[in-house]
Amino acid sequence: MTEQDRRTAPPPADVTAWMRSDWDQRGGEHAKYYINTVEYTGFDFALSGCRDAFEVLGLLHKDLRHDMRMLEIGCGIGRMLQFFAVLFQEAHGIDIAPSMVAQAREYLQRAPNAKVFLGDGRTLAGLESDYYDLALSFQVFQHIPSKQVITDYVRDTFRVLRKGGIFKFLVKTQPWDGQGQRPDTWNGVDISRADVDYWLTLDPWQLRVAYDSEDPTKAWVVLQKP
Ligand SMILES: C[S@@+](CC[C@H](N)C(=O)[O-])C[C@H]1O[C@@H](n2cnc3c(N)ncnc32)[C@H](O)[C@@H]1O
Repeated sequence: MTEQDRRTAPPPADVTAWMRSDWDQRGGEHAKYYINTVEYTGFDFALSGCRDAFEVLGLLHKDLRHDMRMLEIGCGIGRMLQFFAVLFQEAHGIDIAPSMVAQAREYLQRAPNAKVFLGDGRTLAGLESDYYDLALSFQVFQHIPSKQVITDYVRDTFRVLRKGGIFKFLVKTQPWDGQGQRPDTWNGVDISRADVDYWLTLDPWQLRVAYDSEDPTKAWVVLQKP
């Protein structure tokens, strides 16, 4: 199936199966391209992971310690996770696509403290409660076509974080150029500031940063488990 076919096919009723099927195909066709459609060749791919790991962690620098356990939701083949593994005691990733997880396990062979799990695509089932100091998600929720799935991830991240643990993630805030009428597994659902406020009513998060970005199409959210 081509990417065009995937985007125009009628949306299946089972959103998790839809996301897994599309992302498993993308991972099998050309994982690096679908992870970074600009810097997917040669050394550029790895360097982009180093730069983006720095971007994700940069503003958190006062909260970080090398003895932390961290989790990346939607880790792909480990483009950033390889650098998180250098910085933190444990670097875990979870992803919905078996093809991505299989390649991540190869790609991260030189990082013994990195572990990658195949997830169910909407929760962190199988991961221990009160375990992680830090959870991150970069360029993943923007591809999720269901607000409920993102809400489920935010809720289950509260469960797996320890007291004081931080969750930093990027959301899509408005339709992208060329986006069709309905969200799909590439152009995901838009998240509003009101959605962030709603998540705060579901679990007793402390809001560190809401809706922060220079790019009008995306925003960072940083939540902390008190
Ligand atoms: C654009 S890639 C980004 C990968 C990684 N975060 C990075 O920046 O290198 C998006 C990743 O999210 C994964 N993904 C998509 N929907 C997901 C979901 N519902 N749950 C977990 N992972 C998902 C895809 O399989 C893919 O590996």
